[in-house]
Amino acid sequence: MNLVLLGPPGTGKGTQAQRLEKCYDVVKLSTGDMLRAAVACGSELGKTAQKIMEAGALVPDAIMVDMIAQRIETPDRSNGFVLDGFPRTTPQADALGKMLAAKDMKLDRVIEIKVDDAALIERITGRFSCAGCGAGYHEKFRRPKVDGVCDSCGATEFTRRQDDNPETVRARLKAYHRQTAPLLPYYREKGILETVDGAGSIEEVWGRIEALLGRV
Ligand code: AP5
Repeated sequence: MNLVLLGPPGTGKGTQAQRLEKCYDVVKLSTGDMLRAAVACGSELGKTAQKIMEAGALVPDAIMVDMIAQRIETPDRSNGFVLDGFPRTTPQADALGKMLAAKDMKLDRVIEIKVDDAALIERITGRFSCAGCGAGYHEKFRRPKVDGVCDSCGATEFTRRQDDNPETVRARLKAYHRQTAPLLPYYREKGILETVDGAGSIEEVWGRIEALLGRV
């Protein structure tokens, strides 16, 4: 099962992709995570990407297409994948389509998670993650069971993303509406777009995604 999650920043793509990875045994391919790893290790790519990400803009298509092409090549794709954060532009979507066709693969579903922009700001500015294992949390919606201790690995250090400040979030939302939202009609025309309401709790949104995938 090959899936794409689409939606503006903070809509819950990463959160739901983690569930999909666990419950459906698909590989989560998050371009945001890959770029943050490149920034953390100080590679040339990381240096280029860091400035762009801090401005809330999109990294050039050629870089992103190359990054995904390398991951889809790897053998861990056997049970399928869920793409979180890719494609984000029409040229990226075209490149993905060609890449998959060349391997006799296809996308089964593109799932749009729909949330109003106002609610997204609260979700993004309250987000933090474990510095040890990367597990994601939220000050209000998803606190660790014991305050200050990661549920998954027991670490006590947490981090926040550089691009999770209100000014950058506004730029990221603008980029989404201008450059990524055109992918909704693009995939609707191909007959594979599904929209789930992203309002409500993480569990409620997960229930809607599960109900949808039951129909695959
Ligand atoms: P990326 O890392 O992909 O960020 P994003 O798309 O802006 O999405 P987020 O990770 O912010 O949000 P999310 O939808 O995953 O929400 P989450 O589950 O964390 O990209 C970062 C940057 O990298 C881009 O700006 C760009 O520069 C670059 N980039 C990446 N891919 C690129 C590409 N293909 N092309 C060009 N550039 C690219 O949830 C948010 C918070 O809300 C969490 O704390 C969570 O716990 C909480 N939450 C989730 N669901 C709910 C719920 N239902 N109710 C309450 N809280 C919830």
